[in-house]
Amino acid sequence: MSQRRKFIKQSLMGSALFIPGITAIAEAKTPGLFKGEKPLILSTWNHGLPANAAAVKKLKAGGNIVDAVETGVRDTELDMNNLSVGLQGLPDREGITTLDASIMSGDGSCGSVAFVRQVKHPITLARMVMENTPHVMLAGEGARQFAIAQGMPMEKEELSPKAKEAYEKWKVTSKYKPIINIENHDTIGMIGMDANGNLAGSCTTSGLAYKMHGRVGDSPIIGAGLFVDNEVGAATATGLGESIIRICGSFLIVELMRQGRTPQEACEEAVKRLISKNKNISDIQAGFLAINKEGEVGAYAVHPGFNYAKATLTSNDLIDSRSHFNP
Ligand code: GLY
Repeated sequence: MSQRRKFIKQSLMGSALFIPGITAIAEAKTPGLFKGEKPLILSTWNHGLPANAAAVKKLKAGGNIVDAVETGVRDTELDMNNLSVGLQGLPDREGITTLDASIMSGDGSCGSVAFVRQVKHPITLARMVMENTPHVMLAGEGARQFAIAQGMPMEKEELSPKAKEAYEKWKVTSKYKPIINIENHDTIGMIGMDANGNLAGSCTTSGLAYKMHGRVGDSPIIGAGLFVDNEVGAATATGLGESIIRICGSFLIVELMRQGRTPQEACEEAVKRLISKNKNISDIQAGFLAINKEGEVGAYAVHPGFNYAKATLTSNDLIDSRSHFNP
């Protein structure tokens, strides 16, 4: 027996939790045992409701699942009331709004942009990186130059009225202390499954308000803010990016599901890991959303307040997530 096979066998024998998981994976490969509704679109926070609606509309118009998750979050990138996504988002401490985004298909294709300026739709730029370059990630001025080369218009660099007002207030003290569940309603992460069980995901944000210039969060980092694998499922994250990057949150959840955890069990285990690896947890909010191939959904956050939107072709609902500090 090879060393690898021996290790897998030992792991299976050593973990009682693993055994039901193996059954679940076997079931997933058996036709007719799908537990959820397909297609299915899930998004973080209440801004996920209109984003889901846009994604479903795209699917109904004949778009594929990657088209749907791109189109869905483009809607949020234009929402002038949303100060955590798009160019209207809150700026960094220099007063400059910089954006992060990623997109991933269940076949492993992915693209992302980080620390990019003047681009209205960073999610579309991320898709262009995925489809039109041999790379996965472009950052900063290089990402901006790529956008220009792809024919994207450059937006004027000025803060939206709401962001300007908030920034002027912040400058009075120039202190940053995240306020859980209000300020941290950040980022849209969307994961979806089409009628054939193909998965895709997208994630886009203006990042942490008043961050250091150059700071990049979890959203454009494949495996942190987003991870998708057609063999297993998909996960996305929201909240304080640093805490999510430290545990490779979305990758961790997909790998836990691969080992047999349900999406809910995987999200809970990821939150537990995040809590164990981050100090000052009372000041940190982070939440995860996941789906597996059987169409089961999981969501969990550190603190109460996280919610997500779940849409099928005929429904679109906002659902409160459970959390570690209020299970
Ligand atoms: N989750 C978004 C960020 O931390 O930038």
